[in-house]
Amino acid sequence: MQINPENESPSLVYSLMTQAITPRPIAWVSTISPQGVPNLAPYSYFNGIGSKPAALMFSAVNKVDGSKKDTVRNIEANGEFVVNVVPFAVAKAMVKTSGDFDYENSEFEEAGLAEKPSIRVTPPSVKQSPIQFECELIQIVPVGTGPLAANVIIGKIVLINIEDRIIEKQGEIDPQLLDAIGRMGGRSYCRTTDRFEIQR
Ligand SMILES: Cc1cc2nc3c(=O)[nH]c(=O)nc-3n(C[C@H](O)[C@H](O)[C@H](O)COP(=O)(O)O)c2cc1C
Repeated sequence: MQINPENESPSLVYSLMTQAITPRPIAWVSTISPQGVPNLAPYSYFNGIGSKPAALMFSAVNKVDGSKKDTVRNIEANGEFVVNVVPFAVAKAMVKTSGDFDYENSEFEEAGLAEKPSIRVTPPSVKQSPIQFECELIQIVPVGTGPLAANVIIGKIVLINIEDRIIEKQGEIDPQLLDAIGRMGGRSYCRTTDRFEIQR
C-alpha cells in the first residue's frame, strides 16, 4: 500500500504516523502564563537534538480551530519551559493533563500533581517526575499554517535535574529505576523496563 499524504485526511495521516513512529518519548511540558497560571501538557513529537549547546525540540500542532495550544502561547510570551520525564507511576495523571482545560486553570491541580520550584526558569517542575530539563527558547519554527500545522519548539537546556536515587554511577541513569514510559499509537504506551542489549 502506498499513501500520498496530500490525498488523505490529516486525521488519517496523524493516525498512521503515530502508529508507525514508535515508541516515542514523551515531553511533559510545564510552562507559565503571563498571569502566573502554571500549565502542563504531554508532547510525544519530542526528542533531544544536540549536546553543545544541550538542546531539545518538541512539536505542538495547532488546534482544529487554527489557534495555538496553551503551551505555545506561554512559551511565546516568556521564552521558558520545563520538559519533565514521565515515569510509569504517574502515567494516568499525565494523560489527564492532555485534557482541553481552560487557559485559566492549572493542569497540576486538575490532575492532582505537585509543583516543585524550578531553579533556572520560572515555570514550575513536576515533583513526581525523576528528571527535568529546564529550557530557554531558542526558536519556534512554524511548519505550515492553520489547523493541525506544526510549531516546532527548540529549546536550550540550561539545567538538568536528576533524582539521586536513579543515578547508577557518574553519568549513568538506571533505566529500571527511571521506569519512563513511551507512546505507541492511539491509547497504547510502553515501558522502558523491557530492554535488550547489542554489543557495538
Ligand atoms: C501522550 C500524549 C502525547 C501527545 N503528544 C502531542 C504532540 O506531540 N503534539 C501535540 O500537538 N499534541 C500532543 N498531545 C495532545 C496535547 O497534550 C493536548 O492537545 C493538550 O491539551 C495541549 O495542552 P495545552 O493547550 O495546555 O498546551 C499529546 C497527548 C498525549 C496524551
